[in-house]
Amino acid sequence: MKIKVFDNEEDLYNYAAKIFINEVKTNPNTHLGLATGSTPIKLYQLLVEDYKKNKTDYSNVKTFNLDEYAGLDKTHAQSYYTFMHNQLFNHINIKKENINIPNGKANNLNKEAETYGKLLIKEGINLQLLGIGTNGHIAFNEPGSPLDGKCSLVDLTKNTIKDNSRFFKNINEVPKKAISVGIGDILKSKKIVLIAVGKHKAEAIKKTVNVKPTTKCPASALNNHKETLILLDKDAASLL
Ligand code: GLP
Repeated sequence: MKIKVFDNEEDLYNYAAKIFINEVKTNPNTHLGLATGSTPIKLYQLLVEDYKKNKTDYSNVKTFNLDEYAGLDKTHAQSYYTFMHNQLFNHINIKKENINIPNGKANNLNKEAETYGKLLIKEGINLQLLGIGTNGHIAFNEPGSPLDGKCSLVDLTKNTIKDNSRFFKNINEVPKKAISVGIGDILKSKKIVLIAVGKHKAEAIKKTVNVKPTTKCPASALNNHKETLILLDKDAASLL
């Protein structure tokens, strides 16, 4: 894994945006793995700005999201489907049929997870974007998740439910389960870029960077992946 620390968020996000824009320009049929949460919002804004200015072409790009809340219809304001369309997909020329997000309202969520996992393995990811939870989770792989795990229906921890409750009217509305790609699926991506900003991520980053992979911190599995780049602001890097 490589680590890059930036003096400010602006430089970090400009750097990250260049990586994604360059990937799309050099490989117009690329498969991008995409993440949700507050961390990628600025990156998506920069991709949209670049699209408007430079007409970077997404018409043959396929995207695969990491996860979706179980039980939320895609039209729900807090579904990751809605998030991705509001932040990115509605503003670039990606084709609807090239967007892949697990269906959190599927009748059989275990089957949906299995089918999505198979699709991921068949299609493969060239460049995967990741954020990190304050407990070190990646996608929705909470501490204790197998480091070679596949896409599945997972339980969210109290910590994650509390962290994510800021997006909902109250904590009781936060789903308790999600469909999430596994750590094993993430490690199959050719390249991975993980972004963390803010002091509240410093502890998780300390447990992630240059350590022996452990299920206690899911992101530590990235130490087993040669093409992982970790982009940090000074605050997220403050405990390294
Ligand atoms: C959610 C997502 C993760 C994301 C994490 C951190 O739990 N499933 O993919 O990395 O939140 O979110 P934030 O970027 O808002 O801190």
